[in-house]
Amino acid sequence: MHDVVKLENVTVRRGSKYLLSEVSWEVADGERWVILGPNGAGKTTLLNILAAQMHPTSGVVGLLGETLGRVDVFELRPRIGQTSAALAERVPPGEAAVDVVVSAGYGVLGRWTEDYAPEDYAQAEMLMEAFGVGSLRDRTFGTLSSGEKKRVQIARALMTDPELLLLDEPSAGLDLGGREEVVAALGELASEPAAPVSILVTHHVEEIPPGYTHAMLIREGAVVAAGPIDLTLTSENLGQTFGLDLVVAYAEGRWTARAR
Ligand SMILES: Nc1ncnc2c1ncn2[C@@H]1O[C@H](COP(=O)(O)OP(=O)(O)OP(=O)(O)O)[C@@H](O)[C@H]1O
Ligand SMILES: [Mg+2]
Repeated sequence: MHDVVKLENVTVRRGSKYLLSEVSWEVADGERWVILGPNGAGKTTLLNILAAQMHPTSGVVGLLGETLGRVDVFELRPRIGQTSAALAERVPPGEAAVDVVVSAGYGVLGRWTEDYAPEDYAQAEMLMEAFGVGSLRDRTFGTLSSGEKKRVQIARALMTDPELLLLDEPSAGLDLGGREEVVAALGELASEPAAPVSILVTHHVEEIPPGYTHAMLIREGAVVAAGPIDLTLTSENLGQTFGLDLVVAYAEGRWTARAR
């Protein structure tokens, strides 16, 4: 069985700035990773590489058994589901929520003239239901609250039944209830045997859904620590990543962190 992700010495440089430096990393089937790091650490850059949206300056990127640069990215991208603030900004505000979800089947944003089968709508509605936004089917995306938009986007990311799911701060900006709903829904997804390999970026350990198995901590484009979550997400490692003296704790499937 191939690695879902295999990075070898991946470096991304813009001018004299290193966005990522010498990142090596392997993600196997069945794993669910959380990536933590301060603002500007390179998390979104890393996800853009994993989404086959960006090529590294140097290094080798293996994705779903293919090698970036030697594969048609247009064949690779439908196998990868993604949510990000950048993607959300590109959704036409007048688009019906269900069409935001269903149009992922065509890799487009904004419905044009494509014909979707009733099964596609049934799938989109099932996913919206699973993420608690089933009743918002016909509402325009622009009128949704930020939490509702996040959940519609997650449903969209799952629409193509991807092998790899990339979530860039899926609960950022949500209120406590909204965050807990997203975390619970992602935790439920994580517990399904057929769930895609998921990689979730966040700033807050409280946002790690139950069932996430591994963690990567990054700072200034470099990996501080990576591996099984209980060994990696220690007070020392997280403190080093954020440059703070922290106490990290785990109870009942959830993580917390606070300054010492
Ligand atoms: N084209 C570019 N040229 C120069 N610097 C860039 C470019 N694109 C991104 N950066 C810088 O690279 C760094 C990493 O950006 P990235 O978006 O990956 O960080 P991040 O970890 O996702 O941060 P945040 O938590 O704020 O979302 C940032 O300092 C950013 O300003
Ligand atoms: Mg980011």
